[in-house]
Order: sequence, then structure tokens, then C-alpha cells
Amino acid sequence: MKKISLTGIKPTGELHIGNYFGAIKPALELASSYDARYFIADYHALNTIKDPTELSSLIRGVAAGWLAAGLDPEKVIFYRQSSIPETFELSTQLAAFTPKGLMNRAHAYKAAVQENGEKGNDPDAGVNMGLYTYPVLMAADIILFDSDVVPVGSDQVQHIEMAQDIAGAVNYNYKQEVLKIPQAVIQQNVAVVPGLDGRKMSKSYGNTIPLFSPEKQLRKLIMRIVTNSQPLEEPKEPEQSQIYLLYKLFATAEEQASLAARYRAGGMGWGEAKEELFRAANRELSPLRERYEAIMADPVGLDRILAEGAAKARPIAAATVKRFRKASGIDL
Ligand code: TRP
Repeated sequence: MKKISLTGIKPTGELHIGNYFGAIKPALELASSYDARYFIADYHALNTIKDPTELSSLIRGVAAGWLAAGLDPEKVIFYRQSSIPETFELSTQLAAFTPKGLMNRAHAYKAAVQENGEKGNDPDAGVNMGLYTYPVLMAADIILFDSDVVPVGSDQVQHIEMAQDIAGAVNYNYKQEVLKIPQAVIQQNVAVVPGLDGRKMSKSYGNTIPLFSPEKQLRKLIMRIVTNSQPLEEPKEPEQSQIYLLYKLFATAEEQASLAARYRAGGMGWGEAKEELFRAANRELSPLRERYEAIMADPVGLDRILAEGAAKARPIAAATVKRFRKASGIDL
């Protein structure tokens, strides 16, 4: 029997190439050796996205993005969190085993409190209960599907540790293994993808290249990458140039070696390097973009894929909730 890999994708922004190389590609690679369950964490997104049109288009866009990037819904159980009501029952069950102090220590909540303090606001200003209890809902997402491993970025490790603590508290109390304890898998060799300004590519820095940018926009964004004022003749160090670091993500080993040599030889300007990057990026992204557009043009088909995933997921979820109900005395 294969082990179970599960991860959640929060639909809070348009997918960009940092998401693609940092999260989507590695998770899809893992799906070949695990029983993968990947879901759209739409109720997590509700904590921040309050505009209904925006939320529904983000949900569809992110779901279509994963499919366009190669998620095979015949192999991976792919569903929306909101389609699995058992999530919210397990979340209530887990809340009874979650110390309030544990939530006080969650990074996202602590950061919000600290920011409020710096601005002289009430410590809990702008903090909703969804943000505060986020780790309980996330623990439910994970534990519901008997997950062995959870591929995440390092910012999510604390949440996985909390899920372990909460599941452990349940098992300890009932003196049996009611719930499986999950492990985080951090993709170690995943490159940090630099953004247009050289900092890590991130929605919050506004320096992203959207994964499905139309060709013209892709080119325009690449031309906008910030460079220094080294003259054309001067030899350049490829590893210190974000154009080259981005190029490496898309190019073959030979192409990388050849562009690196041109950097070091001098006589090549930034404009030329950007053209090379555009060519390599567009080569990889064009087929993805075409698939994405086709999926987005058929929302009924997309919703059907997600509904089929939910139908496969629900019996697994129901079994976990049932185990808890039996162990706890809720089922008489
Ligand atoms: N918190 C995760 C993020 O912000 C998204 C998420 C929600 C998740 N539930 C999950 C990730 C369960 C892994 C497992 O990226």
C-alpha cells in the first residue's frame, strides 16, 4: 500500500511562477509515488477574501491552474475543502483538544498581534476567529484523510506540528490510535524563485510573473526585471543575476552552460539575456497556458472534475469522523 500525501492550496491569489516551481511541480512529482489528495482550501481563503466574485474566480483559477500544470484527477483525489462537510465536524472535535495557548503561539496570529502593537492598535484589531483558529481547521484538513506526509513550504511547518500535537492529544486521551499523526515534508532542493525586483517572488512584494500570463505580458514583465548599470562589454557573473537564476528554471543544462559562458565572456547586455529568458520561459509555459485557457473556458467541466474528486474523498473523511465519534462517546 502506498503512503498518503496531502496538501492544501489556498486560493488567495493568481498563481505565479514562484508557486509553480516552489509548490506545484514538487507536489506533482510526489504524486507519482504516493496516494495523493490535493485540495483547494477555499474556507481558509474566506478569512481574507470577502468579495464573492473575487473568491469564486480565485477558486476556479487556482483549480484550473493545478490541472493545467499536470495534476491528473484520475490519479490524485482533487477536491474543494468546502465540498467535504466532515472537515468542519472534525474541526469541532479537534477544537476540544486544542489548548487556547497553542493558538496564541501560531506565527500568523502572532505576526498580526505584533503589527497591531507597532501601530498602537488593539492587539486583536482585524483578527477574525478564522485566522485565530486557522491551525485547527488545517489540522482537520490533514487528519481527516489519514495523511502520512504533507508537502509544504517551511512557513507551514508549525501548523503541521500543531496537527501532530492535537492528534496526539486525542489518541492519548482515548488510549488508542483514533487519528493518524502526519509528518511534514519540506522540499529541500527547491530553488527560491527571484521576483522582478530580485527579492523572493511573492504576491505580497508585488514582484511576480503570473504563471498564465499571455505571451505579450510575459515578455513585458521579463523586460521589466530590475538590472544594474553594468555596461554591455563588461563580463557578468550569471549566479548574481536574477535573469540567469530564472533562466535556470526553464533551460536545459546545456543551455544554462551556454548562457553562463556568454555572461562571463562580456559583450552581452541585459536586454539580450532577457530575450533568452523569455524564449525559454515561453517554451515551457505556452502549453500550460493553452491548457489553462481551455479549462477556464469550460467551467461546467471543471466543476464536474472537482465534484468527482469530492465524491471520492467523502467516504474517507466520513470514516475518520466516525472513528472519533465512536471513541469519544458521541455515538451512543
Ligand atoms: N495553510 C496552507 C497555506 O497557507 C494551506 C493549507 C490549508 C494546507 N490546509 C492545508 C496545507 C492542509 C497543507 C495541508 O499554504
